[in-house]
Amino acid sequence: MTQERDRSSIDALIAAHEPGHALDQRFYTDPAVYELELEKIIARNWFLAGHVSELAEPGDFKVLNIARESVILVRGGDGAIRAFANVCRHRGSLVCLEKSGNTRKFVCPYHGWTYDTDGRLVAARSMPQDFDRSEHSLRSVSYGEIHGLMFVCFSGEPPSLEGAIRDLAEPMALFDFPNLKVAAKNAYDIPANWKLCIENYQECYHCATAHPEYARMHTLMVEPSKRERLQQNMLDRMEACGLKKIFVDFLDTKARPGEMGYGYSRKALFDGYLTGSRDGGPLAPLLGNLTDYDGGASDFSFGAFSFLLAYSDHVVCYVFTPVDHRNSRCEIYWLVRADAEEGRDYDVEELTWLWDVTTQSDKTIIVNNWKGVRSRHYTPGPFSSMEEAEGIYVEWILRELARP
Ligand code: FES
Ligand SMILES: [Fe+2]
Repeated sequence: MTQERDRSSIDALIAAHEPGHALDQRFYTDPAVYELELEKIIARNWFLAGHVSELAEPGDFKVLNIARESVILVRGGDGAIRAFANVCRHRGSLVCLEKSGNTRKFVCPYHGWTYDTDGRLVAARSMPQDFDRSEHSLRSVSYGEIHGLMFVCFSGEPPSLEGAIRDLAEPMALFDFPNLKVAAKNAYDIPANWKLCIENYQECYHCATAHPEYARMHTLMVEPSKRERLQQNMLDRMEACGLKKIFVDFLDTKARPGEMGYGYSRKALFDGYLTGSRDGGPLAPLLGNLTDYDGGASDFSFGAFSFLLAYSDHVVCYVFTPVDHRNSRCEIYWLVRADAEEGRDYDVEELTWLWDVTTQSDKTIIVNNWKGVRSRHYTPGPFSSMEEAEGIYVEWILRELARP
């Protein structure tokens, strides 16, 4: 009954949304909206879970915690990576409390039920004679790979990845995604509603004011005529460097029915910047078969929560995950080519510098935003012309929430 009442009041809220404007306060603060998001958005969409190189050997595993779910990704004895709900089939305890490692079995810390790396229950003490272990394997979680990137989805019927695998094959091949490795990763806890984090990532209206470091090299916030000129110069250079002109846009509301949304584009950096480094100089060996720096950076989007930035010599992956309706996490992976050697070919501090400082300042502005959004004086204001992608994202959120 309460649920029905919540649903109809949320439907009314969606109907009252003024296009081109920020969301109503309740979308950020109301636990009933979050419950609906869990069902309609969070449990139905793919999350980037890292790169396959993180689980190189049989028995290598990692655990991801997203909203109320915990998932174990593990490479089995047969070499295949699988994902399991980190929930014991006895009385539901988390089974694996470590973040990552290598193991032959997962022993539940509560009463010792033991699972192998294929998720099969292999030991359970003092159970009745007719107890069938084979009926108590860990539950599978949907798992998919896109050219070396791992994804999980908490729905048994996840959106198809086929379009992304097909249409992103060419741009991902430029950077040789299957043969990258994780050079560094970091997690940022952001005490704010998850949508504010992603909305912030979607627009660069704030970049000039909030990100002096980023604004030195990325051209997203300069006036269009200047940006056009820089962009044209990059396009002219691109082919000689081994890159291709590719543009893909099946993002958010443009996703094909039943498919995960995705996109690809490449944008120029300012003159003098080869990559996203402090001084504009190289950070790591060129990726894939690239022969030179074109002075650009590519944006990849994978569904609603995962975004990548591919410079010519490294890739930065962003995954935004809800913790609850007031807390989020941003995980960042820095990828370089697998044969690059730390110390010789790249320095982790230099590699991570730009997106670490930028994410720290994003965290500050997101938390300020969150504080203001909760005020009795908050009213949703109009988007600028530089917040178009955010506007589309918001429309997508509302469309998904409105699904019957
Ligand atoms: S809850 Fe895992 S063994 Fe009891
Ligand atoms: Fe930002």
